Amino acid sequence: MTRRLGMTLRSFLVVGLFASVLAWAAVGQQLPSQSKDVHLGVASCAGSTCHGAVTPWKDANVQQNEYVTWTRQDKHAKAFEVLHNERSKRIAANLGLPNAHTAKICLDCHADSPAPEARGRTYQVSDGVGCEACHGGAVRWLGIHISGTAGHADNLKNGMYPTTDPVKRAELCLSCHFGNETKFVTHRIMGAGHPRMSFELDTFTAIQPAHFVVDADYRKRKPVLNGVQTWAIGQAIQLRGLLEALTSPTRSHDGIFPELVLFDCHACHHPMSNVRWQRRESAKLGPGIIRLNDANMIMLRIIATQVDEPSGQRLRDSTVKLHQASTQSPQQTADAAKEMLAIVAQLVDRFAKHTFERKDMEALLSGVTQEGMKGEFVDYATAEQATMALSAIINAMKQSGLVNDAQHKKMINTLNEAYDATAKDEAYRPEAFVAAMRKLNEAIPRS
Ligand code: HEC
Ligand code: HEC
Ligand code: HEC
Ligand code: HEC
Repeated sequence: MTRRLGMTLRSFLVVGLFASVLAWAAVGQQLPSQSKDVHLGVASCAGSTCHGAVTPWKDANVQQNEYVTWTRQDKHAKAFEVLHNERSKRIAANLGLPNAHTAKICLDCHADSPAPEARGRTYQVSDGVGCEACHGGAVRWLGIHISGTAGHADNLKNGMYPTTDPVKRAELCLSCHFGNETKFVTHRIMGAGHPRMSFELDTFTAIQPAHFVVDADYRKRKPVLNGVQTWAIGQAIQLRGLLEALTSPTRSHDGIFPELVLFDCHACHHPMSNVRWQRRESAKLGPGIIRLNDANMIMLRIIATQVDEPSGQRLRDSTVKLHQASTQSPQQTADAAKEMLAIVAQLVDRFAKHTFERKDMEALLSGVTQEGMKGEFVDYATAEQATMALSAIINAMKQSGLVNDAQHKKMINTLNEAYDATAKDEAYRPEAFVAAMRKLNEAIPRS
């Protein structure tokens, strides 16, 4: 992750999510950009008596200052603006595009981009990733929602996107933070200068920053789940994205080469004077082989092993098989990816029903730490995922009252060493990360 992100992550100490109710409405719903509901633009949400209050309202259910949070602190508000900066100009020029801010490929992720017929008169592309890019075109729900008579369920029925549902939220975020069948940051776009992307659902929800507060009132209105469950579901959906790309006839390759963004970037992008290859048990690949980015496979295997041991074993075997297949042929790779997709689909259902309580949190905290101590996170991408995972788990434990302030602080202090070790990808040294994991292991309270 970039240093900037490392800093933001480090300053995030508390995740505002805690489990009480775990049944959410599984609404089969299209992404906001795919639905036909007309988008009205950020201005229609930003009135001072709507979501544009400068400070949170005391007597209201919701904060009502969401617009101010978004416009002042949320990078999504600047997502369109960055398409005018030097880096974007360079990317556009390298790709032979007239401009970044008019190119569909850039706007699909850097703005709220519904189909042209779903853009209302007040819609503005310059809003960037505005409210409706996540909450869905407001044309049908705006009225009933202002009238104050509608509950969340009514809003959902009228086209509001179910951002509370962790699976749907993960699909939404990852449609831009990884890409999907219709928009994708390929290695060509990376090569033109686009930054590398990383994502973890629970952490990114918190550092966006969240413009909602999970309090007693929120729990009455909406289903809430704890950060560990959010992390688990996020990992599964993220891995599903990678596997879908691997099985996609259009996205899995580029000419005679495989699509390189699906691989570990740093397998190729590191100086040769720094000879650093190390064997990793879960991959069983020799040196000199480009490895698929398996950070999410590793995290998911750790989670699955805790929740349902046999699935954990199947995922372990399936990971080795997929890595082997990637050294054989595109067809074998796609077949192995399909097999893994079936396991992932079962895990999504499993995690949605599992409550992730004390024993899971404790086991996952030590599980991730132990794997780190064993040197499983030799590559940067996995160390980065592990760091975000640990912060999600530690914060969820704090939120659930499983650790006190002092214990929490002690763990977060050692976790900061993991953030330091992963602050700059080019400078990543696995030894420093292993050392941080050893220290964290000592800081874990033993009951
Ligand atoms: C699949 C979605 C997607 C597409 C397509 C995409 N981007 Fe991005 N872009 C992102 C995301 C997500 C980030 C933030 C990455 C992060 O920080 O984790 C980003 C970050 C950036 C940044 C860095 C912004 C900053 O604050 O420093 C620039 C510049 C950029 N993109 C330009 C472009 C241009 C130009 C195009 C078109 C050629 C493009 N992007 C296409 C999703 C996308
Ligand atoms: C990048 C995605 C994203 C964007 C952009 C976004 N939101 Fe949200 N919003 C969320 C998520 C995730 C939640 C939490 C889940 C939920 O309560 O629906 C949320 C929750 C909310 C809530 C519910 C708070 C509660 O207590 O129930 C309101 C109100 C809200 N957002 C308003 C806005 C407004 C207004 C904007 C634009 C200024 C906006 N959001 C932009 C993702 C987004
Ligand atoms: C329509 C595309 C889109 C969607 C949907 C989306 N994002 Fe983003 N996100 C972006 C882009 C583009 C950027 C980079 C903006 C910039 O740097 O100016 C970004 C940046 C971010 C950042 C800042 C990262 C950094 O490097 O500091 C966070 C955090 C984030 N998004 C979280 C989320 C979460 C959580 C969700 C889902 C609830 C989500 N995003 C949904 C496009 C999207
Ligand atoms: C199989 C090896 C391989 C993998 C894996 C790989 N790349 Fe590359 N990358 C290359 C090559 C080769 C080039 C072209 C180098 C050149 O033009 O000098 C390149 C170029 C780039 C450039 C442009 C560098 C420049 O000097 O302008 C960027 C940025 C980049 N890659 C990012 C990534 C990211 C991010 C990932 C992972 C998501 C990734 N690459 C994965 C081999 C790889």
